[in-house]
Formats: sequence, structure tokens, C-alpha cells
Amino acid sequence: MELNLLKEKFKSLYGTEGTMYTSPGRINLIGEHTDYNGGFVLPGAIDKAMYCVIKPNGTPDRIKAYAMDLSEMDEFGLDDIPIKQWGKYIFGVCHEIMKLGKQVQGFDCVFAGDVPLGAGMSSSAALESCFGFAINDMYNLGLDRFQLAKVGQATEHNYVGVKCGIMDQFASCFGKEGSLIRLDCRSLEYKYIPFNPEGYRLVLLNTCVAHELASSAYNKRRESCENAASYIRKYHPEVELLRDATIEMLKEVANEVSAEDYMRAEFVIEEIARMGEACDALERGDYETVGKKMYETHIGLSRKYEVSCEELDFLNDVARQCGVTGSRVMGGGFGGCTINLVKNELHDDFIKRATESYEQKFRIKPKVYEVVISDGARKL
Ligand code: GLA
Repeated sequence: MELNLLKEKFKSLYGTEGTMYTSPGRINLIGEHTDYNGGFVLPGAIDKAMYCVIKPNGTPDRIKAYAMDLSEMDEFGLDDIPIKQWGKYIFGVCHEIMKLGKQVQGFDCVFAGDVPLGAGMSSSAALESCFGFAINDMYNLGLDRFQLAKVGQATEHNYVGVKCGIMDQFASCFGKEGSLIRLDCRSLEYKYIPFNPEGYRLVLLNTCVAHELASSAYNKRRESCENAASYIRKYHPEVELLRDATIEMLKEVANEVSAEDYMRAEFVIEEIARMGEACDALERGDYETVGKKMYETHIGLSRKYEVSCEELDFLNDVARQCGVTGSRVMGGGFGGCTINLVKNELHDDFIKRATESYEQKFRIKPKVYEVVISDGARKL
């Protein structure tokens, strides 16, 4: 990212200098679609982020925002509706902060980022966390990082329409260089787990496809989980979320829930257990077991949760054929990236074979990203 260009643009648009903030995208090693079920996840912030330059403009509520990557300007009041789709994120963050009883006033800003869009690396959470952090700091509002993560999540729910869990915004706010975050998505207790897999590399392969209706399909998955949990709760009142359920409990309601909801819930219950096992293996430095669990997650996401697609399954197959230690679809699914844990000596061959065969089959060049685990939201 050319950060100077962002500062210069701010100056040329508004004739003054602003302050720069950033917040990153994330990867997730394992624990997918578990967050909104109260389960566990293992994300880490990455070295791809959103950046904004911002300054109060002295008005009570006028917001001027320039999206540098799109060369688009939007201007709105806190009572209007933004014209641009991306304006909703900034608008939503302001409103969610105001709901906490804090005063937000007018500001000017410029923003840009290098988190690939639609790649499952949480560009939207990065944008929300970047603005949440910036507004909080700029007006000295005293919100903590837990509150900022929730502001971002509520923005998705109320202004974007995705009923997401807390993982992405949490990782963006709490990221720490060199560490993954083992997060209990119900209590929000978390632990940093140093991640330095000696002899291995973590690589993302972007299919460069984003299948449509991902957000409605995502919300539908969440509904299936809530349905299944509500049936189980009839017999086991202590089951608030699938996090509290076992496979045996699910089997008891097999004749009551739809086959589809059953399959979704089965994946989630298995995935929460798998995430625990993978985490223990990680703490022992047993990357082979971690990798095995990643493959199991992929199969579950593909066959039971049905959030994979032809392109992702293809890259997963290539990984297996190349002897890659672990590989799976990452994030919400329906396109985006696979995350791959690969031994150093196999890395180059794998990347070559995967990119060549993918391009040959789908006529799209996949993108390759080496993962660097980085810090979360901050002022620059
Ligand atoms: C998206 C959501 C997250 C999480 C993942 C799947 O990234 O924003 O909350 O549910 O999908 O694990």
C-alpha cells in the first residue's frame, strides 16, 4: 500500500492533514461457521489491511468519504442514507457507535486497502474495524476493542444484511503479530497461540470466483443451525446454541429436523470438536495432525455444510495430490480462498501445479498469497 498517496489525496481533497489508521483482514486456521454457534475459532490478522486518513470537519454530522481504490466520493449526513454501497459500512459504524451513547460528529476521510475483495479474507470487517477504531480514537470515546468488534459485527447485521458471527471483527481488532487467536465466541475469552510452524508455510490460493447470493446462503446456514438447536432444546433445555449440543442429542431429533438442517448441525458439532483437537495438536507442534483436521473440515464444508464450490474443491484436490499437509476452504465459502499448510520443500511444486492446472481448467489465473500474521487495528 502506498500510504503516502492516501495522505496526499486527503490533503488535495480537503486542504488539510488527517490522521491515519489501519485494521487488517484475517485468516482462520480452523473452526469455520462455528462462531455464530457459540463455538471456537482460530483466526489471525494478516498483513493485508484497510487504511483510512480521517479528520473531524467541524460540522455536526456531515461525512465526506473518498474510496481511493474506486475513485468514488460519497457525502452524507448521519440522518441520510449513503448513496454508495461502501458508504453503508461507514454510516453503519457511526450509528452503532451512537447506539452506545457516544457522540459522533462530521468528518472527512479517504480510505483504501489491499485486502482482496470477496476472497474470504474479511475486507469488510477490516473496513468496519478501521473506521470504528479511528472514530473512537479521534473523538476519544473510550470504547474498548471488544466493543469495537461488536460495532463492526452489528454493522454487518443491521446495515449490510449479513448475520455474521464475531470472528472477523474480533481478529481485525485483536490481531497480534506472530500469533493466532483461540477465541471462545460465546464468552469472548481468548488466548494468543504463537504460530511459527517451522518447516511449513501457510499459503492462500484465491480461486478468484465469488459466487452470487453468498450473503443469503450464509444467513440460511445460520437459520438451519438455530432451527436444529431449537429442536434439541425441547429435550435439553440447557442447549442454547449448537456449541452446547452433542451428536447424540442431534440424533434424538433426527426425525423432527429437516434433513438439510440435520446435516448443517452435524457439521457444526463435528467442527467444534475438530477445532479443539487441532488446537491441542498445534500447541504440541504436531502440524501433521493440524493438517489432517483441515482436510476433514474441507470435506465437511463441502459435503455437509455445502459452502464449497467446484473451484475450491479442485484446489483442495490438487493440494492432496501434491502431498500438502493441510488444505481447506477458508471463511464463509462460495468462492474465495483455500488455506494451505505446506511443507517448505513441497511449496514451489504445489504452487506451480495448482496455478497451472487451475488456469487450464477454469481459464482464470488463481492468486497466491503468503500469509504473514500481523497486528490488529491501530493508529499509524
Ligand atoms: C464469515 C463470517 C464469520 C464466520 C465465517 C465462517 O467470514 O463473517 O463470522 O462465520 O464466515 O466461519
